[in-house]
Amino acid sequence: MKRLLVTGGAGFIGSNFVHYWLEKYPNDHVVVLDALTYAGNASNLTALDDVQNFEFVHGDINDTSRVEALLREQELDTIVHFAAESHVDRSIEGPDAFITANILGTHSLLKAARQVWLSEGKCPLDHRFHHVSTDEVFGSLETGDPGFSEQTAYAPNSPYSASKASSDFLVRAYHHTYGLNVTTSNCSNNYGPYHFPEKLIPLVMINILHGKNLPIYGNGMNIRDWLYVEDHAYGIDLVINSGKVGETYNIGGCNEWTNIDIVNLICKLMDEKFASNDLLKKRFPTSPASAGKDSASLIEYVKDRAGHDFRYAIDTSYIEAELGYQPKVTFEQGIVKTLDWYLENEDWWQAVMDGSYQAWIETNYKAA
Ligand code: NAD
Ligand code: TYD
Repeated sequence: MKRLLVTGGAGFIGSNFVHYWLEKYPNDHVVVLDALTYAGNASNLTALDDVQNFEFVHGDINDTSRVEALLREQELDTIVHFAAESHVDRSIEGPDAFITANILGTHSLLKAARQVWLSEGKCPLDHRFHHVSTDEVFGSLETGDPGFSEQTAYAPNSPYSASKASSDFLVRAYHHTYGLNVTTSNCSNNYGPYHFPEKLIPLVMINILHGKNLPIYGNGMNIRDWLYVEDHAYGIDLVINSGKVGETYNIGGCNEWTNIDIVNLICKLMDEKFASNDLLKKRFPTSPASAGKDSASLIEYVKDRAGHDFRYAIDTSYIEAELGYQPKVTFEQGIVKTLDWYLENEDWWQAVMDGSYQAWIETNYKAA
């Protein structure tokens, strides 16, 4: 039985991970520590309100003494670290929050883990600090380049990816210098339920429903490797339970799409949903699909993102060979599950889109 501290567990991937973990390991104890920034949403975890061995703590990973107290008092032996500022566009507009959350925040957690598990000897052997990172630390690929492997040199290009790269190095250093039991996973783009609607896939789904333009940065030919979020949780599970201490593992979907192709696919799927469901036409009267028009008519090419990485792709051969990892959800299944989730959970996305986020989106998605 493990006793986990999950940082950022109210965010997109963190909350999916917590649901995955408690379903698979119902006797484990899970404490979520989350500052509930604009991207965190406590309602992602309300289904666990009555679960005895689950606790939500509203707090900041930079509060080192609070983290120490949680590790000590709740006898936690595993940290799964998701908490971060995660949106590249925001990192371009304002990098400071990324330095504070991603670099200083990770260091605060490492210090707390070292203090309680090693210096105080609370859990000297059987502890684990698992750090959740991104493929964006490797920089950008050209067409035809092999995917990022664990040996690819770091070359981060955005303030977001630079802050994540920096946190990866701190995690590595705490293993080599102090003997902290760490693992790191670098994953490709995730999609699925609870994805904050500033990221491409949920933004496009919701904008179609509202009849708003679908902003495509640059020429739409940039490529991402998409993975269903539950498969990321599965990969982290394998790394925590069977991965080698001190090792890093790349996790990916082997599922590369240009942005324009993925937006066109979502438009087509949405048009099919509306064509077979009159209730959707009543619920979303301003969507072009309600008038029998193509959702793709909303596509609008806008100014490119500064320093926009062209292509990400993961070489998954190491995690496949070492841990037997294979994604379980195909893209065809995952994208339909995700679309259905957004159609069934309008209350969730309407609520998260209230407030200052909306003002930010209006000023940042200007047509080219
Ligand atoms: P998210 O933005 O949806 O959630 C981040 C969560 O962290 C939020 O709940 C937020 O409230 C919390 N948080 C932020 N700063 C905090 C702080 N100082 N203290 C406590 N909590 C804080 O992010 P996500 O998309 O779920 O990403 C989770 C992790 O996975 C990140 O570390 C990200 O770099 C990594 N990752 C994301 C992707 C992706 O496609 N989204 C892919 C690979 C890796
Ligand atoms: P995003 O979901 O922000 O993830 P990341 O930048 O971490 O890969 O963006 C995915 C891709 O979609 C990226 O190439 C930028 C592009 N994009 C758009 O073209 N329009 C948008 O409105 C957004 C949010 C992203």
